[in-house]
Amino acid sequence: MKTESRLVQWICWLIVITSFFLTGFIIGWFARPTSTDTSHDAGSRRHLREFLDEMRPENIRDHLRKFTRLPHLAGTEQNLKLAEQIKGEWLAYGLDSVEMVPYDVLLSYPNISQPNYISIVDQLGNEMFNTSLSEPVPEGYENVSDIVPPYSAFSAQGQPVGDLVYVNYGRTEDFFQLEREMGINVTGKIVIVRYGNIFRGNKVKNAMLHGASGIIMFSDPADYCAPGVQPYPDGWNLPGGGAQRGNVLNLNGAGDPLTPGYPAKEYTYRYNLEEGVGLPKIPVHPIGYHDAIQLLKNMGGDIPPNNWKGALNVSYRIGPGFTDGFSTQKVRMNIHTNNQVTRIYNVIGRLRGAVEPDRYVILGGHRDAWVFGGIDPVTGAAVVHESVRSAGKLLRKGWRPRRTIVFASWDAEEFGLLGSTEWAEENAKVLQQRAVAYINADSAIEGMYTLRIDCTPSLHTLVYDITKQVSSPEEGEEGLSLYESWHKRDNWTDDRDAPRISKLGSGSDFEAYFIRLGIAAGRARYTKNRKTERYSSYPVYHSVYETFELVERFYDPSFRKLRAVAQVRGGLIFLLADSQLLPLDANQYAGSLTKYAHTIAQLGQKHPDALVKYGVSFDSLFSAVENFTVAARDFHERLNTLDRTDPIQIRMVNDQLMYLERAFVDPLGLPGRPFYRHVIFAPSSHNKYAGESFPGIYDALFDIERTANPKQAWDEVRRQISIAAFTVQAAAMTLTPPA
Ligand SMILES: *[C@@H]1O[C@H](CO)[C@@H](O)[C@H](O)[C@H]1NC(C)=O
Ligand SMILES: *[C@@H]1O[C@H](CO)[C@@H](O)[C@H](O)[C@H]1NC(C)=O
Ligand SMILES: *[C@@H]1O[C@H](CO)[C@@H](O)[C@H](O)[C@H]1NC(C)=O
Ligand SMILES: *[C@@H]1O[C@H](CO)[C@@H](O)[C@H](O)[C@H]1NC(C)=O
Ligand SMILES: *[C@@H]1O[C@H](CO)[C@@H](O)[C@H](O)[C@H]1NC(C)=O
Ligand SMILES: *[C@@H]1O[C@H](CO)[C@@H](O)[C@H](O)[C@H]1NC(C)=O
Ligand SMILES: *[C@@H]1O[C@H](CO)[C@@H](O)[C@H](O)[C@H]1NC(C)=O
Ligand SMILES: [Zn+2]
Repeated sequence: MKTESRLVQWICWLIVITSFFLTGFIIGWFARPTSTDTSHDAGSRRHLREFLDEMRPENIRDHLRKFTRLPHLAGTEQNLKLAEQIKGEWLAYGLDSVEMVPYDVLLSYPNISQPNYISIVDQLGNEMFNTSLSEPVPEGYENVSDIVPPYSAFSAQGQPVGDLVYVNYGRTEDFFQLEREMGINVTGKIVIVRYGNIFRGNKVKNAMLHGASGIIMFSDPADYCAPGVQPYPDGWNLPGGGAQRGNVLNLNGAGDPLTPGYPAKEYTYRYNLEEGVGLPKIPVHPIGYHDAIQLLKNMGGDIPPNNWKGALNVSYRIGPGFTDGFSTQKVRMNIHTNNQVTRIYNVIGRLRGAVEPDRYVILGGHRDAWVFGGIDPVTGAAVVHESVRSAGKLLRKGWRPRRTIVFASWDAEEFGLLGSTEWAEENAKVLQQRAVAYINADSAIEGMYTLRIDCTPSLHTLVYDITKQVSSPEEGEEGLSLYESWHKRDNWTDDRDAPRISKLGSGSDFEAYFIRLGIAAGRARYTKNRKTERYSSYPVYHSVYETFELVERFYDPSFRKLRAVAQVRGGLIFLLADSQLLPLDANQYAGSLTKYAHTIAQLGQKHPDALVKYGVSFDSLFSAVENFTVAARDFHERLNTLDRTDPIQIRMVNDQLMYLERAFVDPLGLPGRPFYRHVIFAPSSHNKYAGESFPGIYDALFDIERTANPKQAWDEVRRQISIAAFTVQAAAMTLTPPA
């Protein structure tokens, strides 16, 4: 009886288990993917949703809080500790590997026992007035040590004495106006310019080119204070005692000044300091507007045009020198900053791809800060941290991206994009062969108005796609997507009804990846209203007032704007890493090339007589752009009929898409700028922050009416047009069917 019932029980169990198994098998059979295409992409979309939803404002807040407690300047103990902390947390979040990658690069620090300052001196050389040695420290941070005073990194040492000349923003056109219209020669003079509009290194270069013996840069309230806003800590404006730190190099993409082209490793050959790339030969120093008033108020010379006047209660006279009654006084700069080879550390984390581990999608941003880094860079680093955490969470549930994702915490960005450029140099061969895209993650916010995207044309479609998956962070816009909110606030009305996307310039770590190596790249951040807010970057940029409280109290109290930026940056790398077909759009590239070709041709057509006389024509460029447009259209049409179950076919078209950006690289580089090798995009020669399209042609045409040798100058224009036409045609050929 006992054994019998047990037997029956066993048989029942067996039947139940077998039927479960069979049902499971049948369900599995019918649910089996028939085309890997749709099922994979649907799965990928579901994971994307989970990845985006996992990112939380309160986590971003916590990361920002924890990474902004102490100063963490490149090359200091604190920044190494922060690197170790990030490495530990990324491993704990679940990345497959995280390594510290050191380099020994040239950095620059003030001399603690011999501070930098500027003085007004009398006939006997007595210092009647000295600029301040540091910024008033914000409340709560009084006991913090190691706050580096405002300085211009890589300034030459020296104590030049001379008359001041005021040159507005120190732009190329400002110096032209000074020399050509106002007839003032700055040779041997100390130039004073206001910050803003262009990269500070370009101001320094212009001052050197025109013979100045030193340059002082000040923050004018017209450019660093928003109307109706209080100075920090009561608001987010720059206080009068605040000043903007920053490097004043003209590296043109070289990275470490002593090891251009090669990674700054222990065995690497180093140039002497005199041979270093981009180091200024004159003293440079930044000051705030309280000190600027003292230097400017007694200046003599002519009153400048209105667009040279800032918002200080002075007349902005040009000089040279002081007005009657003060004319025996001069200005002296006292600069003792030292250059020093110093060890820096990148943190590189990897999440191995399941299907194509040899294809890399990179999310990189810097960690080093001038002081606390409240906005720059920690809003960016906090966003990367949250992306790593969210990816780790998905990984634990069994997800793995199709391609490898690389997360990077760069060092020494503030000293000339050094950490990211050295790593690009060390890994150049591998990256050329395997990198799909690079998304940059510097400051995630510079204003409170809407999204700002700068990226390569082939990423436009993906940016619009991802911003439709993200919710608007704005109060009162519940239910709107980020795309809709952004569209409403910054409509790109020149040629289409869509939110504005801009060209990439430089000034952050994507430079070596995009402009030197030709890797598709983009950046995203929250920004100000370009129509109404005219101040540069954000008022307290690179000052001691960039604190956690600045963000929490003014820029993003709910941390929802930062979350939205995290979702855009993270969403981009997610879809680039996980989509079966790379979400890169050659048609968008064709559209942009057409636009840029018309713009540059119009610039040339301002000189109709010269075009005829020297036989200059843009026809070959238009022909190449037309060929590219046809090739791109045909390429995307072929994708519609692609056999999505054939992994070789998929890999072939993905390689065409990945290498498209690479096809725009000219190994010889632009004239005089060997590390700027992208023929379509380069940082402007007059402002590193801005992007220029067809930079070779643009520079050849620049100021051409004043050239001493027109034949030679127009020959160079013809040469540059032919290089551009060839390169676009060569890129078109990479999109045609392989046989
Ligand atoms: C800093 O200044 C002191 C005092 O003038 C000088 O003795 C020292 O050599 C300087 N340090 C460096 C690294 O130049
Ligand atoms: C400026 O600093 C120098 C050097 O420390 C000092 O001798 C001079 O008295 C100072 N001048 C004023 C006006 O504070
Ligand atoms: C700074 O240090 C002083 C003296 O040690 C102390 O009284 C004060 O509370 C500290 N302030 C802060 C903000 O920690
Ligand atoms: C400016 O002055 C210097 C020397 O005083 C002279 O060598 C130079 O040619 C002058 N530049 C111009 C553009 O006149
Ligand atoms: C501007 O400066 C002048 C002369 O220094 C002074 O008389 C005037 O009160 C100042 N105006 C303001 C608004 O501060
Ligand atoms: C953008 O501008 C176009 C052209 O002016 C207009 O038709 C469209 O409605 C605008 N879109 C939005 C979202 O404001
Ligand atoms: C564009 O394609 C046409 C047709 O193949 C060719 O004749 C022409 O040379 C191409 N243009 C350039 C700039 O190579
Ligand atoms: Zn930064």
